[in-house]
Amino acid sequence: MAEKFYLTTPIYYVNDVPHIGHAYTTIAADVLARYKRMMGFDVYFLTGTDEHGEKIWNAAGKNLDDTKKLVEEKVAGFISAWKILDISNDDFIRTTEKRHEEVVQKVFHKLLENGDVYLGEYEGWYCVPCESFWSLSELKEDPEGRKLCPDCGRETEVLKEESYFFKLSKYQDQLLAHIKANPDFIQPESRRNEILKFIEQGLRDLSITRTAFPWGIGVPDNPKHVIYVWFDALINYISALGWPDGEKFKKYWPADVHIMGKEIVRFHAVTWLCMLMALGVPLPKKVFGHGWWTVGGKKMSKSKGNVVDPLALSKEFGLDAVRYFLLREVPFGVDGDFSRNSFIKRYNSDLANDLGNLLNRTLNMVERYFNGVIPDPKNLLCFDEYSQRLVEGKKGIIKAQERDFEELSFSLILIGIWSYITLANVYIENQAPWKLAKFGETDKLGAIMYHLCFALSAIAYFVAPFMPETSQKIWQQLGLTGSPSENVDIIGVKVAKGDPLFPRIEVS
Ligand code: MSP
Repeated sequence: MAEKFYLTTPIYYVNDVPHIGHAYTTIAADVLARYKRMMGFDVYFLTGTDEHGEKIWNAAGKNLDDTKKLVEEKVAGFISAWKILDISNDDFIRTTEKRHEEVVQKVFHKLLENGDVYLGEYEGWYCVPCESFWSLSELKEDPEGRKLCPDCGRETEVLKEESYFFKLSKYQDQLLAHIKANPDFIQPESRRNEILKFIEQGLRDLSITRTAFPWGIGVPDNPKHVIYVWFDALINYISALGWPDGEKFKKYWPADVHIMGKEIVRFHAVTWLCMLMALGVPLPKKVFGHGWWTVGGKKMSKSKGNVVDPLALSKEFGLDAVRYFLLREVPFGVDGDFSRNSFIKRYNSDLANDLGNLLNRTLNMVERYFNGVIPDPKNLLCFDEYSQRLVEGKKGIIKAQERDFEELSFSLILIGIWSYITLANVYIENQAPWKLAKFGETDKLGAIMYHLCFALSAIAYFVAPFMPETSQKIWQQLGLTGSPSENVDIIGVKVAKGDPLFPRIEVS
């Protein structure tokens, strides 16, 4: 039976439209899901929407019907965006679905019964955009004395209301021990250190219900309380699988990796873990907090008008160019700055020049010298050090990918693939096939064409998780059928040259 692999993205708030930040996480998860499927894993890839909370309630004018209407509209936007971006999720969970609400109430009930949830009063500060509670000592203050959220810098509001609390503090030692005993649990290392520091400062019990507005999942037997949006949302990772006894839960839990932006690692590595400990549910294997995209060095926001739309970008330059750029431009754990210039520069150099030209030149030569049929290298397979490097290099990349995908080092994997592409381009220059053609050295010329087509078939296979459409196009232009696979016989295949993969972008 195939080994299972369960991966998740955060579920996105629906007051926003999907921008490249959301697309970044979702595309990264998609690439990993596709890679694992190619490796034969039984993958479950979950994404979805986080639809409750004060933020969306306020945005819809604090009215139930309008909130429901707004949510429906916005969710449709996310579902269609992921379709356009070719996201291969196996499930899409919405926190307003019955299957989710029922599990949240079950979790609440269980924790209330076992004494990990109790009724008290919350007095403190709340950041609506981040949906987070803060104590005075954690807040920043501006010159006018306003109390600001330490995460987003926006003004917080004072809260004083009856609330149920979750005994986070009870799990502090167990949590610390777990993180220390599992050095790879929180990645990258910088995030792990932040979380350790945060826990060592001491965990306070967490307010997990609100009474100020009705947009949320009701507390069983006390419906004037709605469950705090983060407590509700985190449960999506098990509600989608049908906790506690659903077949999918038995099969796929624990999650192999929760992927997210760095700002919400704390909710996952602390709150979520303690909730699972309290429930007696096994813990996820990894939490990965990637970096943030800024634009012109600034946070993206509707009010600044600098939000980058991944759909417009892929309409203009092609979807695979967007998927490639986001994962190639910066290492996955590090922040990146988006600019149209850097996008176009990378497109032209890596995609149009390196990859596009390699395919184009190779197929042109196969057509010109061999009537479009990939020749048999006969006894000239790996005839020199360079041809050998192309054949051996493939194995090296496959091996390196196993390790690098484990660490979600997407940019490193792409750098590795591109060094192979460069090797093939240099091979053409060094071998100068046009000279061999001139002097009638047909056998050697044939061997060179074979090695180049071999390299292109390997490249189609390597890029498949990142650029599914491009991979398929290379495969088809090589005249191959089915989907790109590790081993295929290319000898005697008639190539089918098509349009350039990535037409060069001329900048005026
Ligand atoms: N609803 C919560 C998550 C609950 S998960 C149980 C939430 N939603 S969100 O819509 O604000 O999405 C946050 C996620 O979107 C980040 O963690 C990150 O994955 C992605 N990004 C949003 N903006 C981003 C950037 N500017 N750059 C990179 N990714 C960011 O938080």
